[in-house]
Amino acid sequence: MYDFHYYNPVRIYFGKDQVNQLKEAVAPYGPRILLVYGGGSIKRTGLYDRVLSQLREAGKTVFELPGVMPNPRTEKVYEGIELCRRENIDFLLAVGGGSVIDCCKAIAVGAKTDRDFWQTFFINGEPAADAIPLGTILTIPATGSEMDMSAVITNWATSEKNNYDSPLIYPRFSILDPTLTFTLPKNQMANGIVDTMSHIFELYFSPPDEDNVTDYLAEGLLRALIRAARAAMADPTDYDARADLMWTSSVALCGMLNNGKKTDWASHCIEHPISALFDVAHGAGLAVVHPNYLEYVRSCAPAKFARFAQRVWEVDPAGKSQDELAVEGIRRVKAFFRELGAPATLAELGVGEADIDRIADLTDLSCWSYKPLTREDVVNILRMAL
Ligand code: NZQ
Ligand code: ZN
Repeated sequence: MYDFHYYNPVRIYFGKDQVNQLKEAVAPYGPRILLVYGGGSIKRTGLYDRVLSQLREAGKTVFELPGVMPNPRTEKVYEGIELCRRENIDFLLAVGGGSVIDCCKAIAVGAKTDRDFWQTFFINGEPAADAIPLGTILTIPATGSEMDMSAVITNWATSEKNNYDSPLIYPRFSILDPTLTFTLPKNQMANGIVDTMSHIFELYFSPPDEDNVTDYLAEGLLRALIRAARAAMADPTDYDARADLMWTSSVALCGMLNNGKKTDWASHCIEHPISALFDVAHGAGLAVVHPNYLEYVRSCAPAKFARFAQRVWEVDPAGKSQDELAVEGIRRVKAFFRELGAPATLAELGVGEADIDRIADLTDLSCWSYKPLTREDVVNILRMAL
């Protein structure tokens, strides 16, 4: 294992009706709250009314920033920053998925500086000096943003989708009620399951590859995720399956699976420009990119891929070479994504061969990979995905 520092300060309220804890959760913060949400699902499900009633009982004054779009854009962040300054906001409450939470995180640091938030944090990567505290109520298990210190924002004008990390944007609390996910459409469920699996892959497929506790945790999470995904797809109101999906997505990126590992992120680096250029859902992009990336690098770590096939997919090793096991493990990933109804080709995302060069130009090549990636490698992987 590599040396590591581990820190995660997010207080979790997990379970049915934990939204009723919101009054207590926001009590320590100032009276002026900005409620941030997306395109309206929280109004249709009745969650909006429950949140407002808790905030009123807590004696808070509520301001609203609705309309955060999937793949949240810089314009929405500027709008939020302006609102925070004008109304002297004390606390940000994100109610929704990764897009709403990430928008809140960017507003949190952007409102506390006089400089441009995009240039300062998302381009220069400067450490933030201050941030408005924030909390979340999660409605779609996918990104892990509810328990991590990352935000991902898209600049539509420059086709850049960039990540920013700061310990100041860890949520102070996250409310995870699995019943809030019963209303998710199947395609959004699939996107979330693929994203969660992809996060675990990014951490698992990296050294050390000998026996270590973090890899055992990852394998256990993958097995739980596969079981729960199938159960929730068959019965969207299966509480235990929804609970496993929700907690798996949070644990996947809360830092536990990074501990002692090199970590990868190449598939995310290739997917982000696809989302930025074509406004594709992040999970859908990953469903196309990640299996092809694994196929591309598997010969650099044959023992790890063979282990993956046996421990995660229970492939019988009898009569199979290491290489055959590795191939079978990746075939199972592809079949599983198909079973979920996720796309498998760039064509299904509306992306053609003529777009590959632009995607490759925008891909960040700095992440670690079993096979250090060049622009040509990215082009090869994307061609495999056509
Ligand atoms: O906008 P509303 O109307 O709320 O509808 C949303 C949205 O259309 C809908 N939805 C959410 N909960 C629902 C629901 N519909 C019915 N019932 C519910 N309970 O789902 C749609 C997608 O929501 P979104 O927040 O965009 O999804 P997700 O959580 O997958 O977030 C994706 C964003 O997070 C970034 C992605 O790149 C993308 O921009 N990521 C953030 C990360 C992080 N902060 O650590 C890491 C990830 O790798 C990822 O990059
Ligand atoms: Zn992701």
